[in-house]
Amino acid sequence: MAVCRLNFMSNLGIQVSNLHKVFRKRKGFFKTKSSEVSALRDVSFEVAEGETYGLLGPNGSGKSTLIRILATLLLADRGEVRILGHLLPQEERQIRWKIGRVSVDAAFYKKLSARENLLYSAYLYGMDARVAERRAREILEQLGMEGRYTDPLEEMSRGMQQKIAITRALLTGPPLLLLDEPTTGLDPKSKRDVQSFLENLRREQGTTILLTSHDMAETERLCARIGFLAGGRLLAEGTARQLRERSGSVTLEDAFIHLAGESLADSVAELVEET
Ligand SMILES: Nc1ncnc2c1ncn2[C@@H]1O[C@H](COP(=O)(O)OP(=O)(O)O)[C@@H](O)[C@H]1O
Ligand SMILES: [Mg+2]
Repeated sequence: MAVCRLNFMSNLGIQVSNLHKVFRKRKGFFKTKSSEVSALRDVSFEVAEGETYGLLGPNGSGKSTLIRILATLLLADRGEVRILGHLLPQEERQIRWKIGRVSVDAAFYKKLSARENLLYSAYLYGMDARVAERRAREILEQLGMEGRYTDPLEEMSRGMQQKIAITRALLTGPPLLLLDEPTTGLDPKSKRDVQSFLENLRREQGTTILLTSHDMAETERLCARIGFLAGGRLLAEGTARQLRERSGSVTLEDAFIHLAGESLADSVAELVEET
């Protein structure tokens, strides 16, 4: 697939070229056999600073692997990644502070309250506790806080826990956000709260956002451009309109099926089922 090169005048938030990642699993009773999964195959794309880019793909298409590589948590086998101009993994220290990441299943100390969890993160970041608390409350207010900030995390709804995870990722005011399925499993209200918050963040702070999703309507609402990922390959990218027009489809769902082709019918069927 031809990579859509962004206008060179715009600064690049994310540059990914020919990224490849293979996982090897040992199998069998004596673990003598092994199998390989190509989680990412030759993936290339760019995200401009201040742009929201969405990666749409079914389970197992490589979304989390890609996010984890960009978040410096996993090493790629091949390819080049630059985040805000810094090369990974060589310059990862320079960018760790500039990235906020939210994963589908955020890890928390569930017995502690939202407040304690957030203050602990602030402590790890070396932030002043009072500044962190003020900022956390501001973000939570915008996100639509339900329940009490001092309640243990385990007593909060999944939607509320996700809002806490987003707050934690934003405590240091990072210019770049990596969001792995930030709204998967949320009730409709929490989903809308999170989506509106992300829209405001981009508009008011100019935050660069890469988000993954299997919700077609969500990516269409939030993302200037969308990439279709299936079987570890980036099959196509463009605005929702370009993707629909290119494939002569009325909906993004049809566009995905068309562009994914017969060989990927199984994974696409799964994607459509989930949305
Ligand atoms: N740590 C791992 N070890 C082995 N295989 C993995 C690992 N992480 C992901 N995979 C495999 O890589 C592929 C892509 O997974 P993932 O990136 O989690 O996809 P997605 O987030 O789109 O569901 C899947 O086939 C998955 O089983
Ligand atoms: Mg995933």
